[in-house]
Amino acid sequence: MTINETSFFRDHCLFDALRETVVPQLIKSNSAERKLRIWSAAASTGQEAYSIAMLLCEHFLTLESWDVKIVGTDISRPAIGCARRGSYRRLEVNRGLPARMLVKYLTRDGEEWEIAPKLKSMCEFRYANLCATLPALPTFDLVLLRNVLLYFTPQDRKSVFRGVHQHTSERGYVMLGASEQAEDSTTLFHAEFTKQCYFYRPIAKPESRSR
Ligand SMILES: C[S@@+](CC[C@H](N)C(=O)[O-])C[C@H]1O[C@@H](n2cnc3c(N)ncnc32)[C@H](O)[C@@H]1O
Repeated sequence: MTINETSFFRDHCLFDALRETVVPQLIKSNSAERKLRIWSAAASTGQEAYSIAMLLCEHFLTLESWDVKIVGTDISRPAIGCARRGSYRRLEVNRGLPARMLVKYLTRDGEEWEIAPKLKSMCEFRYANLCATLPALPTFDLVLLRNVLLYFTPQDRKSVFRGVHQHTSERGYVMLGASEQAEDSTTLFHAEFTKQCYFYRPIAKPESRSR
């Protein structure tokens, strides 16, 4: 059930789409409140959330004065512990992290590399089972629900999409893994294709959403 396989900048095409399309669009739509909420919904040991933090710091200086929070959740408490520590072995940083980003955003500590305090302060990690009642979470502008749907039954998938929909802002985006689709949730999301990558936008507006 809890295979924690992950890596930094997993699936480059998704990060290209975020950099070139999704984040610029969110900066436009949220410019009045200057607030951005991102959810790594099966965060595993944290590389996905920290990759997003690096992408924002590297390419969107304007966000330095914004209220930005990346929330990583997972069902595996050991994985959450690793994510909170933000300390990775050479094998882990060698997978997907360009050398320039490694020395800029992590510090070497013996055999391990530790995420910089600035990135850690942008991220928080919490327990959540996507198939059960979700904990109190804000409404998110971007949800990464990647490489976890394959563990769920079709019925569970539907209920997970309903929960994700409830927590996605009207102007928000949901991104799945490269080989995943939201085909059984067409009443909740519609798909858009850009930069070789699908992302999903919420259709109906739920009755109440809080940020
Ligand atoms: C293969 S990893 C994917 C990590 C990351 N999203 C990525 O794409 O690199 C799948 C993660 O989903 C988590 N997971 C499995 N079932 C879950 C559930 N019901 N609720 C929350 N997380 C779950 C596992 O613990 C694991 O960390």
